[in-house]
Amino acid sequence: MEPIKSNIVNTDALFVNNYNASKQRSLKIDSLLEQVMNRYTDGAVIKHLERGKLTARERISKLVDVGSTFLELSALAANGAYNHAFPSAGIITGIGVVMNQLCVVVANDATVKGGTYIHETIKKHLRALEIALENRIPAVFLVDSGGVYLPNHTEVFPDRDHFGRIFYLQSQLSAASIPQIAVVMGSCTAGGAYVPAMSDECIIVRNQGTIFLAGPPLVKAATGEVVTPEELGGAEVHTAISGVADHIADDDAHAIEICRDIFGTLPAMKLPLEQLPNAYEQPLYASDEIHGLIPEDSKQPVDIHEIIARITDGSRFHEFKANYGKTLVTGFATIKGITVGIIANNGILFSESALKGTHFIELCNHRHIPIVFLQNISGFIVGKTSEHGGIAKDGAKMVHAVATANVPKITIIIGGSFGAGNYAMAGRAYSPAFLFMWPNARIGVMGGEQAAGVLTTLKMQNNVNQSPESQAKLRQELIEQYNNESSALYSTSRIWDDGIIHPHETRDILALTLTVVKQRNKMLPKNGVYRM
Ligand code: COA
Repeated sequence: MEPIKSNIVNTDALFVNNYNASKQRSLKIDSLLEQVMNRYTDGAVIKHLERGKLTARERISKLVDVGSTFLELSALAANGAYNHAFPSAGIITGIGVVMNQLCVVVANDATVKGGTYIHETIKKHLRALEIALENRIPAVFLVDSGGVYLPNHTEVFPDRDHFGRIFYLQSQLSAASIPQIAVVMGSCTAGGAYVPAMSDECIIVRNQGTIFLAGPPLVKAATGEVVTPEELGGAEVHTAISGVADHIADDDAHAIEICRDIFGTLPAMKLPLEQLPNAYEQPLYASDEIHGLIPEDSKQPVDIHEIIARITDGSRFHEFKANYGKTLVTGFATIKGITVGIIANNGILFSESALKGTHFIELCNHRHIPIVFLQNISGFIVGKTSEHGGIAKDGAKMVHAVATANVPKITIIIGGSFGAGNYAMAGRAYSPAFLFMWPNARIGVMGGEQAAGVLTTLKMQNNVNQSPESQAKLRQELIEQYNNESSALYSTSRIWDDGIIHPHETRDILALTLTVVKQRNKMLPKNGVYRM
């Protein structure tokens, strides 16, 4: 496989300009992450530590193997919302390695409104369970939560993907023989009590963890019985009387030690980590140079080969149909020794590019090769010629192929993600195994200027007497609204993605997530390869 030859001169003014702008965007993300991760001066954190407890992130770092990477997901969920009262939406989720086993970790942050659940907290928790289920990897729950955030109960309790779905998915995980371990390190109340109760094994911390369907105040109101939390559902009760928990621990650190011991007894994964390739080439060009390749003006094109060259082993890329439908680049490569199909935008989608994408997905299906989508798409070509040429049916073929692909898809939005291009390139609705955004990425039904154009035209048709000034004002307001609502930060706050990643981390994060999806069972396609 030949390496891609880069044509970039990293001292060019344009490159340097792009590099500095991209680094600034990354610094802004880092500073927001620092605000949610380092809250040691916050009164709730001080109170938590004074009680002898570890913070949620400290618990995770003790749980995972020393020197291993923990891939935190959606760390900026609820960012900018709820008057900043819910950093990371009060829950830490991610993928880590425990006793050399990949696993999903869900940890309540009791320093955020008692670890209670708002809409985004549920969304993160469910997403973590979905990842465990899809990829057949164990889950650990570090529980410390007051349950539903009562003022917002309508956004948390009644609907399909609300609180009850956690226990539905736990049942599915259990039925699929995927291990679940709960460590009760604080409150575990009302519906939340089912988190440990539905796990395979449960550890509870003495004089700290409690499990009950109704806490003492509710018990008193309901039956008049006066009881302390410890008497009602403390560690001694649940390990010696009720049998709800299986192991008693002296403190957080001891509980984590027991959890790690349990991991030591779990069956090996389908593809143990030690069997992953450990000899592979580095890309010929530095990952950091990707920053210089991202145009400051998002309308400027990016040569996607230059980005691929900074992600794949040895910068090698076996391109498929290099001269056909050139606005979509397809081909095979390895990333840290794992073979992938890459589908990457290099302009807008035409009929030929959509047909080529469809054909390539079929190849990946038959060869059981996961697909990485590098998404930078303003949409499909519009206009009379393309409509007459059947762009709608050709685009539909690609959307169909993406939706029904029987191999895992990993999507990185590296630029724009607009309109039906989002669908054809494995947007969130197409169930990619993971979806991450770069800080510069934008997502929306269309760009701000296009939306403003459409809406002002419609408004003018209905009200011909509008002055040019009010038209211009409306247009400007719409552009600003769309620009704000299509930013990566807006998306990640609402968990439309699994998190914002730095461009230079892309190769490492792809390698880790490709390892996770390797745990899935293979599925055979039901049809042959239809040449497009
Ligand atoms: N809904 C809304 N807010 C809640 C809440 C809930 N279920 N549980 C706690 N909070 C809020 C508190 O009002 C407080 O808010 P503030 O910081 O704005 O004052 C914050 O979370 C921390 O609560 P606090 O009681 O001071 O912390 P704690 O660490 O001493 O105790 C709990 C934490 C979770 C054990 C305790 O708050 C509790 O028992 N909450 C009620 C749990 C419950 O009955 N849930 C049923 C719903 S399913």
